[in-house]
Amino acid sequence: MARTPLIAGNWKMYKTEREAEDYIQALLPRVAALDGVEVAICAPYTDLKALADSARGSRVEVYAQNMHQDAEGAYTGEVSAAMLAETGARGVVLGHSERRAYFGESDQALALKVPAALRAGLRPVLCVGESESERDAQDTERRLRQQVGEDLAGVDAAELAEVVIAYEPVWAIGTGRVATPEQAQEAIAFIRALLAARDEAAARGVRILYGGSVNADNAAELLALPDVDGALVGGASLQVEPFAQIISAARR
Ligand code: 13P
Repeated sequence: MARTPLIAGNWKMYKTEREAEDYIQALLPRVAALDGVEVAICAPYTDLKALADSARGSRVEVYAQNMHQDAEGAYTGEVSAAMLAETGARGVVLGHSERRAYFGESDQALALKVPAALRAGLRPVLCVGESESERDAQDTERRLRQQVGEDLAGVDAAELAEVVIAYEPVWAIGTGRVATPEQAQEAIAFIRALLAARDEAAARGVRILYGGSVNADNAAELLALPDVDGALVGGASLQVEPFAQIISAARR
């Protein structure tokens, strides 16, 4: 099954609405003529509506970076899936390692968040990946099995193909230490095997991205790997030029 590559830029806590608007106006003409690749910008909440309005009708979709699992409630500071969908956002990053490490995002919460996103028509981008000490202890596969198993426990086979998984080894995020092609390929093939054990046909449709220090120089090699269906790009997505180069490198 042919999977269309997805290049998603995760802006993290960068860019005001005005900065986001300048960026999208510069990006849209750079990607207008491309086909065979999907593009998403994962932006702060406050940027979503303006970005979605500006990107409407283009190949660029707008995703959020987090959401609460409940439909509504007394959860000060939180945002629901329906609230995101109404901004025009089409997806949401869930389980990013920064949220797991700094904000206590748990696998139990993710088991609820992934189905809640799907119910609202948002594409979940579920982030998984091992820490450096887990890799050193040869614990990578155990960690991936646990995250994939628990976080997708509430997703049935029919919904699985809507989910995007981002393999982001924690030691490669923001460090400049990109995974080698062998490391990325091995981990992503392992994740696909985990999915196939649940449902072989559905697993073939799931896009699995690599994330962690992807830049315009290393993207082509990673994106050429047979199991890598795109990239989740942090720092190199903050400027239009390198991000546009990464998008061009993804076309199949
Ligand atoms: P960097 O590309 O800055 O390493 O960040 C990766 C990441 O966390 C994307 O979600």
